[in-house]
Amino acid sequence: MNFELKTLDLTLVAREKADALLVLVDEHFKPSTDALSALIAQALRSDDFSAKTGRLLHSYRPAEAAAKRLVLVGAGDGSAKQVRAAVTAAVQALKANRCQRVAVHLGALTHTSDAAVTGAMLAVADASYVFTTTKPKAEARSLTHITLGVANAATHQSALLHGKGLFAGIELAKEWANRPANHATPSHLAAAAQALGKPTKFKTEVLGPKEVARLGMGAFMAVAKGSEEPLRFIVMRYDGAAKTVAPTVLVGKGITFDTGGISIKPAGEMDEMKFDMSGAASVLGVFRALAELRPAINVVGLIPACENMPDGRAVKPGDVVTSMSGQTIEILNTDAEGRLVLCDALTYAERFKPRAVIDIATLTGACVVALGAVRTGLFSVSDALAQALQDAGEAAHDPCWRLPLDDEYAEGLKSNFADVANIAGRMAGAVTAAKFLQRFTAQFDWAHLDIAGTSWKSGAAKGATGRPVALLVHYLLAQAQTASTPKASAGETPSKAGGRAKSGGQGGAAPTRAAGASRRAASKPAPR
Ligand code: BES
Ligand code: MN
Ligand code: ZN
Repeated sequence: MNFELKTLDLTLVAREKADALLVLVDEHFKPSTDALSALIAQALRSDDFSAKTGRLLHSYRPAEAAAKRLVLVGAGDGSAKQVRAAVTAAVQALKANRCQRVAVHLGALTHTSDAAVTGAMLAVADASYVFTTTKPKAEARSLTHITLGVANAATHQSALLHGKGLFAGIELAKEWANRPANHATPSHLAAAAQALGKPTKFKTEVLGPKEVARLGMGAFMAVAKGSEEPLRFIVMRYDGAAKTVAPTVLVGKGITFDTGGISIKPAGEMDEMKFDMSGAASVLGVFRALAELRPAINVVGLIPACENMPDGRAVKPGDVVTSMSGQTIEILNTDAEGRLVLCDALTYAERFKPRAVIDIATLTGACVVALGAVRTGLFSVSDALAQALQDAGEAAHDPCWRLPLDDEYAEGLKSNFADVANIAGRMAGAVTAAKFLQRFTAQFDWAHLDIAGTSWKSGAAKGATGRPVALLVHYLLAQAQTASTPKASAGETPSKAGGRAKSGGQGGAAPTRAAGASRRAASKPAPR
């Protein structure tokens, strides 16, 4: 899709040739002397239209405009959030018209923020998205060209670029998350990561079963054991800053299909477990956006990818495995596999001496129960890191909500046969999963995003959302800004000691053995 930003008022936008012209109208609309203004004023006086968000008034071959269709779109208070909702409603309503060129006019709003421009772009993209990889191409998205009309295009150039980068990243994340598991195996994901790195300055490295065994990733290997598909451990590096700048590491859960393993899931809706690599897809999406936006930061992407299958060779409930950290794990439930692949990836992250590590995972059904499809679950003992991610979520309209990590929640993870069990009781499942992961994060500032509720939609609108690509990209760009500002504000630089001290330390922390293993891993030379 092509996005173009133009300086337009209602007189000029009326001359735009398009299959549809959407004119956003907020509560403070002030008509000028042009024909469109007169039409809008008249419509507002009638009951046929109001500025209430999402209200639509359609006309075909209007006398007032050159476009084939005119849609007046209520935009409420004109905030970025309302603009997004309004554009979504309008584009959804136009879906059957198979428009190719659409003009979206924001220039009649009382005020247009950068966030509204980016929001409008992403709303058009989202509402017109069609997955076609395994469907007839005839139904593909018809929209090819979007013109955005604003009062002053020059002031929104960076919003346009930002929107284009996010668009590319979100679309890629959706594409991979939506692919059925037989079209998105661990090897397919690895090839996608490699293809992504080719035209850019990314470095992508892919490890297979042998290398992963050599690293001692016993937890990751245990999950992959029941599958005929060989596991892949994908390492991506975006180097936008000097080598001396510590990277942010993103770890994406890449279970390309989660049957539950021997602790098998019920059949109903099991197909949705093809989305269990949405965290991995979001990491690919972020790297796609980084390729476009090229911020001055360093980012590492890690994706442990495998299937979770039942089989004669599959890991069994009660089996004890040794993780890369050295900690032994009693696998009481093979369906709690996400934390097993993630814990080894987290240990691997130590070698990058990261400024922060963020894992993104469709980790627990319990998080869906707690927060639904609105907010992603956020866990971190660093107040500064949590705040930065919360702020990024709000700014990106991709919100998250912080949940606790009190050590008392780790009680249920105790095992008589290993350092830790992979499940606790039935209560607070999203938190106990995070407590399990926390044991592998002693060496760095860490946050965990549980996207089980937000990364895909069920039912008639079944499909990936591309979340939390926007949140992550906003966070990373904010870091780039902080890094380039001579004196970083205290609030935005996560201080290890500070963050930990406030929440009572790293309690339930890794045992000495793990710490030793961690130190060994950390002292290994970082791969280029
Ligand atoms: N991938 C699932 C989590 C999930 C379930 C996400 C439903 C979205 C919808 C994860 O691997 C899983 O199975 N978790 C278990 C953990 C339990 C066994 C402790 C769960 O949430 O039921
Ligand atoms: Mn599972
Ligand atoms: Zn899973």
